[in-house]
Amino acid sequence: MRIEGKSYKTIWFENNLVKIIDQTKLPHQFVIKDLKNVKDAIYAIKTMEVRGAPLIGATAAYGLVLSIIEKNDLSFLKKSSEELIASRPTAINLKWAVDRMMKKLTGVNDKDILKIALDEAKAIIEEDEKFCKNIGLNGLKIIEEISNKKKDTVNILTHCNAGWLATIDWGTATSPIYHAHQKGIKVHVWVDETRPRNQGANLTSYELNEEGISNTVITDNAGGILMQRGEVDMCIVGTDRTLSNGDVCNKIGTYLKALSAKDNNVPFYVALPSSTIDWSIKDHKQIPIEERNSKELSHVEGIDENNEIKKVRIYPQKSKSLNLAFDITPAKLVTGLITERGICEASEKGLKGLFK
Ligand code: MRU
Repeated sequence: MRIEGKSYKTIWFENNLVKIIDQTKLPHQFVIKDLKNVKDAIYAIKTMEVRGAPLIGATAAYGLVLSIIEKNDLSFLKKSSEELIASRPTAINLKWAVDRMMKKLTGVNDKDILKIALDEAKAIIEEDEKFCKNIGLNGLKIIEEISNKKKDTVNILTHCNAGWLATIDWGTATSPIYHAHQKGIKVHVWVDETRPRNQGANLTSYELNEEGISNTVITDNAGGILMQRGEVDMCIVGTDRTLSNGDVCNKIGTYLKALSAKDNNVPFYVALPSSTIDWSIKDHKQIPIEERNSKELSHVEGIDENNEIKKVRIYPQKSKSLNLAFDITPAKLVTGLITERGICEASEKGLKGLFK
């Protein structure tokens, strides 16, 4: 998608370096950063210079390429893979990408390993882009249907950033929106700010602005009243891990939106590529929920009138805080899962129907 009219992907490989858009600087500064070694890749994932389930998977795949460039040694590669998997615990795409790479690299001889690693990382990236595009084409049908019935702007609420910045391109939750916009369907997006890191306000609103899509940032608690007033036609969110029973783990606050949507008969969709499905865990209580530094809660960051980025404390130093990064939306609250293969019910039957 575009930034100031120029097309970008979120990650690419150039001259033995991995290039990323540093998302901790957005929307105030657009900075392309070089990842030179696997440590840089781990740091980028941990500090959320890159974030969003598919993009952290892609970064981990390239992280292993960097590891081989640094030291072509099996025990170093294994250590790198373990450290990459541990860098963020909740999004399954991270482990999925590392496992896929390691499977490809096992038993390969030293002189071929770099090429094989690079080809596989590129395949993961190209596949994600294709899947996100297809998610968009599948989700477009839902927006089209609402638009045809309503004969007016379709209002869509989204939470966090499951946009192109969270993937390679297109995004998951935003892909149907981009496709609808390109088809001339009038859409408007309610963007949850998504405290504490404000991925909605900082990233989703930014990328929608760059594509010329009408959007309004709202507080995380505003969705309920907007739904009661009939001002939300549908919700679409992304996910970090969806279980085979259809339970959805996503950014903290997603569950409350789904409850509100249910109470107000607003369709609640989750968009995901198949790399986000965890077929192994059967009970959502087994999903590791990331607990992040409380400083993300106690401090807010923004730009002042002199264009300087400042961080300020917002509550007493003595106060305790708990910064859970994800929550679970039970399948019963999900209207449907929008995947690269089609839309299905949020259930084992639905998912297995698409992914045998
Ligand atoms: O903590 P983040 O910013 O990595 O969380 C991102 C989300 O929760 C997204 O909704 C999810 O990863 C899906 S991205 C297509």
